Amino acid sequence: MTTGSVLLAKGVRQLTDAGVPNAPRDARRLLAHATGVDAGRLTLILPEEVTEAAEARFAAVLQRRAAREPVSHILGYREFYGRKFKVNRHVLDPRPETEILIEVALQQPYGGVIDLGTGSGCILLTLLAETEGAQGIGIDLSEDACLIAEQNAIALGLEHRAAVLRSSWFDGLQGQVDLIVSNPPYIAPVEMSDLSPEVHDFEPHMALTDGVDGLSAYREIVARAPDYLVAEGRIIFEIGPTQGAPVSQLLTAAGFGQVQVIQDLDGRDRVVCAVKPS
Ligand SMILES: C[S@@+](CC[C@H](N)C(=O)[O-])C[C@H]1O[C@@H](n2cnc3c(N)ncnc32)[C@H](O)[C@@H]1O
Repeated sequence: MTTGSVLLAKGVRQLTDAGVPNAPRDARRLLAHATGVDAGRLTLILPEEVTEAAEARFAAVLQRRAAREPVSHILGYREFYGRKFKVNRHVLDPRPETEILIEVALQQPYGGVIDLGTGSGCILLTLLAETEGAQGIGIDLSEDACLIAEQNAIALGLEHRAAVLRSSWFDGLQGQVDLIVSNPPYIAPVEMSDLSPEVHDFEPHMALTDGVDGLSAYREIVARAPDYLVAEGRIIFEIGPTQGAPVSQLLTAAGFGQVQVIQDLDGRDRVVCAVKPS
């Protein structure tokens, strides 16, 4: 039998050799997973011997990570805005940048939410969990993504306030809400080859790119959104760093007011919000 420290050092070497960014962090998280301890308590058990079963589990997950499978897929979940969301290869991994969209949405009250391209449901479910009594619908074209969003709604006890619909954007939807949110696929096809293997090889391409120019989902959503928003209702998009100006122009041309671009912590344009005039 081997100690946790020896296994950890071996894991860091294996992941570093495979070109995994931040290999020490990932090796620690995977060793915690394999040994069944909380990641924050891993240091305490490092001097102890690890069972053969845990050592075998660690070897197996290291091999997956060395093949560049994301840690979230190996663990089966990702944290977003303080909550755990089930994820797998059918949904985009919730990103920390998307929490900025949540912060912007929370600045004003809302009662009804439409989340277009809900994926894991992380945006819709966070907004419902943060606002008591709010109700919403998450829409996704991917049947598999809808299943994950439904499972996350149940796991968070939100299934009575969150509906999930398989559809293309607003197709089949009726009624109006006071908040529309969306993080649509916004990577242009020419940019796909720049993505890391974790993203390019393991995340669904329909969650990443529109296959056109990175702006086609915004065009369609902006054109149809006024029919689904009450007067003074808000629309909030996550965008790619070069899309602040074109998405703002789309919103202004469609008659939206108070168009605002918000930056992420790195100073890059990340969110655009606007209001439907009364
Ligand atoms: C960038 S992911 C966002 C997932 C999640 N909202 C998040 O922020 O982590 C975009 C999502 O849009 C979905 N999607 C792509 N085209 C769509 C369409 N025409 N109608 C509805 N959803 C679509 C994809 O399946 C994917 O789940």
